[in-house]
Amino acid sequence: MRVSVVAGNWKMHGSVSFLEEFASDLAGALAHAGPNSGSVAPELLIFPAAPHLALARSMLPPEVAIGAQNIHAETQGAFTGELSAEMLDDMGIGWVLVGHSERRALFGETNADTAAKVQAAERAGVAAVLCVGETIDERRAGRAAEVVLAQLNAVLDVAGLGWLERGMVAYEPVWAIGTGETATPDQAQEMHGVIRQALAGRDADLASKVRLLYGGSVNPENAAELFGQVDIDGGLVGGAALVVEKFVAIARAVG
Ligand code: 13P
Repeated sequence: MRVSVVAGNWKMHGSVSFLEEFASDLAGALAHAGPNSGSVAPELLIFPAAPHLALARSMLPPEVAIGAQNIHAETQGAFTGELSAEMLDDMGIGWVLVGHSERRALFGETNADTAAKVQAAERAGVAAVLCVGETIDERRAGRAAEVVLAQLNAVLDVAGLGWLERGMVAYEPVWAIGTGETATPDQAQEMHGVIRQALAGRDADLASKVRLLYGGSVNPENAAELFGQVDIDGGLVGGAALVVEKFVAIARAVG
């Protein structure tokens, strides 16, 4: 049985006062009943903006894991504005998002860059969440699976499978991110199935254990049906993760 995960990607949002309020409200919600009151307790993960990483670690309840939204592939050096996986590990930050579609589309991150970052995370003992997903044009051209598999295989060919002992893959169709247009449960399941099958082609045992997250306009209304799909083990949530009540409701939707 795979333990479900609900992860919040705060992107470039937040402030000290936002964090204080979110932390206090989340602690209250978890103490009250908590997502742990259900049959399966989802792991909770928050990816705040880089300046808020240490604050988030100290303020959010200890059962909530913290991750960065991006890393550089090198350990250290003259890379102004960047941060390394080793720095995260040193600060007790155990997770990192790699290859988010906004990194790919807005900052020119290639599949090769993404593979190097996954390797860097593994080297530092930081668990990576590899994001993959097709654009609407690619989907309309019938190329969704091909694009997603190319993104996945580019990493697996270089980084191997070891990082997936703790790491995860998040399927985030670009056309569903921040648009309010969610993939249907069938569409999402189909792509998660493609991803798990590709992993199984390399290591069937590992593939059965790896958590695959869906991201793209997840909200309290659609979460339960999405998370009910056989290969969807939780969500990577953007906008709704900025509102405690919605984040907790989504966590409770994990069956
Ligand atoms: P939204 O939930 O706002 O669509 O964002 C999804 C996302 O990009 C999470 O990484």
